[in-house]
Amino acid sequence: MLALQLDAPHQPAVAREIPTPQPATNEVLVRLHAAALNHRDVWIQQGQYAGIKLPCTLGADGSGEIAALGAGVTGWAVGAPVLIYPGVAWGNEQRAQGRDFRVLGMPDPGTFAEYTTVPAHYVRPRPAHLSWEQAAALPLAGLTAYRAAFGRARVQAGERVLVTGVGGGVALQAAQFCAARGAEVWVTSGDDDKLARALGLPLGLRGGLNYKAENWGRTLTQQAGGGFDVIVDSAAGAAFGTLLDVAAPGGRLVFYGATLGNVPQLPAAKVFWKQLSILGSSMGSEQDFDDMLALVNEHQLVPVVDKVFPLAEGEAALRYLEAGRQLGKVVLTC
Ligand SMILES: NC(=O)c1ccc[n+]([C@@H]2O[C@H](COP(=O)([O-])OP(=O)(O)OC[C@H]3O[C@@H](n4cnc5c(N)ncnc54)[C@H](OP(=O)(O)O)[C@@H]3O)[C@@H](O)[C@H]2O)c1
Repeated sequence: MLALQLDAPHQPAVAREIPTPQPATNEVLVRLHAAALNHRDVWIQQGQYAGIKLPCTLGADGSGEIAALGAGVTGWAVGAPVLIYPGVAWGNEQRAQGRDFRVLGMPDPGTFAEYTTVPAHYVRPRPAHLSWEQAAALPLAGLTAYRAAFGRARVQAGERVLVTGVGGGVALQAAQFCAARGAEVWVTSGDDDKLARALGLPLGLRGGLNYKAENWGRTLTQQAGGGFDVIVDSAAGAAFGTLLDVAAPGGRLVFYGATLGNVPQLPAAKVFWKQLSILGSSMGSEQDFDDMLALVNEHQLVPVVDKVFPLAEGEAALRYLEAGRQLGKVVLTC
């Protein structure tokens, strides 16, 4: 089968023929039809990820059909359309993952391949209203967005929510999910064109601003009619200070990434005087995954796919994601 593998950091990913895996006991073999990229794949290639073990087939997100059942698998039939939970070994606590938790696709073989094997309890029926590419766009980004917004920050209908960096795969899904649940959603982006495109999508977003504009925080709170009850962020870094300013009293700030690095200074008085809660969130449990899929099915939500590449051109897809021009997910057809 064809697979997109990374042999060493700072090397191009290579599409090559490798043996097709066979499902072990309690596993299913999935014939992948689509897989989606995440920024994690770029971090691994750049050598900026903890515990890198290579060579490996990358990829956490995949959709496809069941091609074979391992011994002991019940409840699934060959040909069933599925998508795959993008984590491994979350554990039994909804509160946080266990020590063995890892993301699919390094060190375990990932989804940038024609076939993969996973434990049967990690596959779910593909939402019937989604194409293979749309379904593949959902798992890691949707799971991360869902847990951050609802599992951690407990976004409620009617609350004013700010999602930063809406060009990102997770951010756009967080904005879409919060709007579907009846929140009043505002966004930022570093790119005017992406911002315009996001606001032009039928997602129900209220408005937004470029985070590179001077005093964007003051302007956006004026436009929104007040501070934000919830802020969903993945940049952290020096930009975090403005987020404390634009949070409403009693606001919750949840962050799931640190694209800009650590927050250099945390003005403690602002946090306690405004009664703010600062929350961290990472990926999500199988329960979060099921809850996210229920939301997607209930509201017939369709994740935004920016661009599709063939698996053989996976290296070009990684470079495209790294360049950061996308709005939504970058997908491979397998
Ligand atoms: N903890 C977890 O489980 C988890 C899961 C998924 C992702 N992450 C992390 O979250 C981050 C985003 O991941 P992704 O896969 O969604 O990435 P992506 O699709 O490549 O998007 C990159 C994101 O960074 C944003 N960004 C860059 N500079 C920014 C700034 N100064 N202020 C605000 N936003 C800024 C971009 O916004 P614009 O393009 O709109 O400017 C865009 O949202 C990465 O750091 C990733 O490692 C963590």
